Amino acid sequence: MYWHTVEHASMSTGLEGVVAASTRLSRVDGEAGTLILAGYAVEDLAPHATFEEVVTLFLTTYSSNASSDLVAGRKLSPTTIDVLHHAAARRAPPMDALLMATPTLEGDALTAIAAFPTIVGTYWRLLHGESPVPVRHDLSHAAHYLHQLSGAEPTPARARALETYLITVCDHGLNASTFTARVIASTQSDVISAITGALAALKGPLHGGAPGPALDMVFEIGTPDRAEAIIRSKLDAGERLMGFGHRVYRVRDPRADVLAAAAERLYEHGADRRTYELARSIERTALRVLHEHKPDRRLDTNVEFYTALLLHGLGLPTELFTPTFAVGRVLGWCAHYHEQLRDGRLIRPQSEYIGPVGLQYVA
Ligand code: CMC
Repeated sequence: MYWHTVEHASMSTGLEGVVAASTRLSRVDGEAGTLILAGYAVEDLAPHATFEEVVTLFLTTYSSNASSDLVAGRKLSPTTIDVLHHAAARRAPPMDALLMATPTLEGDALTAIAAFPTIVGTYWRLLHGESPVPVRHDLSHAAHYLHQLSGAEPTPARARALETYLITVCDHGLNASTFTARVIASTQSDVISAITGALAALKGPLHGGAPGPALDMVFEIGTPDRAEAIIRSKLDAGERLMGFGHRVYRVRDPRADVLAAAAERLYEHGADRRTYELARSIERTALRVLHEHKPDRRLDTNVEFYTALLLHGLGLPTELFTPTFAVGRVLGWCAHYHEQLRDGRLIRPQSEYIGPVGLQYVA
């Protein structure tokens, strides 16, 4: 039971079931298991569109002069690079380095979207004692990210797989990080501050931090015959299975299917096929055991399970999974920022006080 009444106001823990904004950006239908991105079904848009097209689609919804020219913002300022050097000296996790570097960005939404791949790529190389790769102007956004990380130009199949991922996760209703961005926008703060707050919310394992642990579980299980025993022991110990369950979807997350298809194509092109087969088999076992474990709660596969598989197939280490999610989701944060600024009101819910009253203060 999530709702009860507090001094004439309704209370919903976790704001479950509360509609706090109108949006033209994405529609998440949790019962039907569908996702619309600015009018297009995710399964139509993500495998075929370019990320640049989706940037135009999202940013022109609220700003007449928005372009999709992401090339100009790729180069980092000396200040941003300096922060990344300091973060590398402290061996900060990549998500923390992205959080430290973002406030140093100067510019608008497009600058942040353009700069995220360079920040993550530069940081990853510094962390491993390698020189950053100069930015390239002739690569697509997705290819540029992979180039920044590895220094090698990706094959079209690898760039396409990443592009499909970035579009799939670019927006998703009022999730925790987007809500954070909208709360910050509602105070009329600037877009870089809204993105910084959103990043902090994305970091948590219940939101963007799940794919790393999801892949760890696949490797821990190792062979399909071990899946059931390990999954049962995790659930018996009160653990949650990462990559399963969702606040809104009561059926399979449609993004899981888009990414599963993209992962399958990628793994056909030479990536470690055994891991793909193992993950699919673990998914089947997990769904069966979860259903027995929580017969009243429909727990299905969410986007993170196949995010893990796809990004692993691209050769990305788990530490880069959440920053890569941010490279895609920053587009949604920016569009929601502008939408909130234009149409929204200060977001200011109430709280129910449950502490003591009437205490006598003694100095
Ligand atoms: N494994 C095991 N049990 C679960 C899981 C899971 N993955 N998810 C929910 N449950 C149980 C939970 O323990 C609870 O049981 P009880 O009522 O006995 O305490 C019940 O189901 C209801 O859970 P809830 O916490 O009320 O559900 P929620 O809507 O708050 O949680 C969730 C949604 C995504 C946080 C949750 O399903 C979860 O923790 N999943 C694992 C983490 C994960 O995969 N996160 C990525 C989410 S998708 C990316 C995004 O959009 O952010």
